[in-house]
Amino acid sequence: MRIQLLFLFISLLILNSESLNCNGNSPQGHPSDLRVFHIDSPCSPYKQPNTVSWESTLIKDNARLQYLSSLAVGKKPWVPIASGRSIVQSPTYIVRANIGTPAQPMLVALDTSNDVTWVPCSGCVGCASSVLFDPSKSSSSRTFQCEAPQCKQAPNPTCTVSKSCGFNMTYGGSTITASLTQDTLTLTNDAIPGYTFGCINKATGTSLPAQGLMGLGRGPLSLISQTQNLYKSTFSYCLPNSKSSSFSGTLRLGPKFQPVRIKTTPLLKNPRRSSLYYVNMVGIRVGNKIVDIPPSALAFNPATGAGTIFDSGTVYTRLVEPAYVAVRNEFRRRVKNANATSLGGFDTCYSGSVVFPSVTFMFAGMNVTLPPDNLLIHSSSGSTSCLAMAAAPNNVNSVLNVIASMQQQNHRVLIDLPNSRLGISRETCT
Ligand SMILES: *[C@@H]1O[C@H](CO)[C@@H](O)[C@H](O)[C@H]1NC(C)=O
Ligand SMILES: *[C@@H]1O[C@H](CO)[C@@H](O)[C@H](O)[C@H]1NC(C)=O
Ligand SMILES: *[C@@H]1O[C@H](CO)[C@@H](O)[C@H](O)[C@H]1NC(C)=O
Repeated sequence: MRIQLLFLFISLLILNSESLNCNGNSPQGHPSDLRVFHIDSPCSPYKQPNTVSWESTLIKDNARLQYLSSLAVGKKPWVPIASGRSIVQSPTYIVRANIGTPAQPMLVALDTSNDVTWVPCSGCVGCASSVLFDPSKSSSSRTFQCEAPQCKQAPNPTCTVSKSCGFNMTYGGSTITASLTQDTLTLTNDAIPGYTFGCINKATGTSLPAQGLMGLGRGPLSLISQTQNLYKSTFSYCLPNSKSSSFSGTLRLGPKFQPVRIKTTPLLKNPRRSSLYYVNMVGIRVGNKIVDIPPSALAFNPATGAGTIFDSGTVYTRLVEPAYVAVRNEFRRRVKNANATSLGGFDTCYSGSVVFPSVTFMFAGMNVTLPPDNLLIHSSSGSTSCLAMAAAPNNVNSVLNVIASMQQQNHRVLIDLPNSRLGISRETCT
């Protein structure tokens, strides 16, 4: 008995020190697992001394939503609602990427709605990071000629005076100008030679993740497309709860070690918005009632960009207004003997102890009932709880429903492109 206790104590000690090990690989996990850190993790360079309150996260999300809507609808990106640091579209989850020979480690933001990877490079004008990738220190770094096929896949490709390929793009309210570069990328134990990414020379705005971004979208130039032979266009991730900041989740690349017992729904392809992971959400249940939502609020429409996507970069799920209002009204109706109040953009908050109904997202072939941790957010004093969803802000003419990271936490989300499906299963990401 005493030996068992001692063993438990030692295991806890190991677990504790391991949770603060900021290396990229998951030591006790699968060989193809890469650790995913929350931005507020002690391992994160983005960690802020005064952590932003959750009430204000919704405002930050608005910038993300405007950006996603611009991707979905294909209009010019929306003008940011407010300027300054309050709308910084800082990343929510980051992974360690080793670039070049010898490897230069960068902590890049994960973004499932973008394709091309980019990092700030030495000499960059306007990059906020002090950690910069220096291609001149890498023996495997190459640039592209303007005629290269990869150059045509880059967003807004340009040909520089020296006839090498560059591109520019907007991200949130920021713009980047980059050289298209090729170098070895090492994520888990696998080296990916000749990985194509953008080396940022110039940046404007404040919405860029400081050390760059890893595009996990489904379009050309994304990690998924560039590693088709190695990882068979299959990956999954488990995002840790934002409150357990010392824990990490995992990004698991390739078909090996993926969960077999998992609920799935077909992925839908929008040729006009090739980066986004669209699914068919057919309804939403509150308690045992399927709420009355106009079918047009959920329908997939490649021409307008309407439909439902899974996104890792938005924090709280956003529904188009008629869908949100129907869900919220039924939710409020089911909370007995209490009136909803508003808090920082959330409009269905309660203080004291009340019993909340469950909420189920109904996808084609798969129902996902959210556990309370994915449904409710609590004030730091613990006295107020809010339904952690919102309608699109009224200055965004949004047609997109976005299943966001708060609702995905502590679930494994599987993207299986060969079988064109998205899977979900409960898992504690630690
Ligand atoms: C971005 O690329 C477009 C298309 O190639 C070009 O017209 C534009 O001048 C570029 N913008 C910047 C800021 O480099
Ligand atoms: C909720 O609001 C209504 C209308 O203002 C009021 O009559 C009722 O007493 C309130 N209920 C609670 C539990 O506060
Ligand atoms: C999802 O829930 C609805 C309503 O409760 C039910 O009719 C349907 O069969 C369920 N779908 C699956 C795939 O379990």
